[in-house]
Amino acid sequence: MKKKVLTLLIGTAFVMGLAACGGGEDKAGDETASGGAKIFDQKCSSCHGENLQGGMGPDLTKVGSRYTKDEIRDIIKNGKGAMPPNVVEGDDADEVADWLAAKK
Ligand code: HEC
Repeated sequence: MKKKVLTLLIGTAFVMGLAACGGGEDKAGDETASGGAKIFDQKCSSCHGENLQGGMGPDLTKVGSRYTKDEIRDIIKNGKGAMPPNVVEGDDADEVADWLAAKK
């Protein structure tokens, strides 16, 4: 009986581990948001809207058809017009650029 419960627990942990892979290393917080979505939500949505619909900054819903990941990374690093540079840096910038480049 004990063994069965243990197997079940390990099985569940394994499935959860697999599910967490899509979200990267960070397992804390929102389970549905990927790393990029989470960063965007925290750092970019105040200007670009929580659904990328735009606000003070432009609509980014189809930004991936205008810019490559590298170009978005550059915009984040250097800023653009009224957008300040380095809102996020390093891996976070990479992740959010990757996530946005897929929005086409
Ligand atoms: C303080 C407000 C503000 C924040 C915060 C901000 N942006 Fe912007 N962003 C802007 C503005 C304003 C523009 C338009 C710049 C221009 O073209 O003159 C812009 C432009 C952009 C563009 C180019 C869009 C286009 O069609 O040319 C991208 C991509 C972008 N932002 C991504 C991001 C990302 C990713 C973040 C978070 C890491 C972010 N922005 C945070 C204000 C902001």
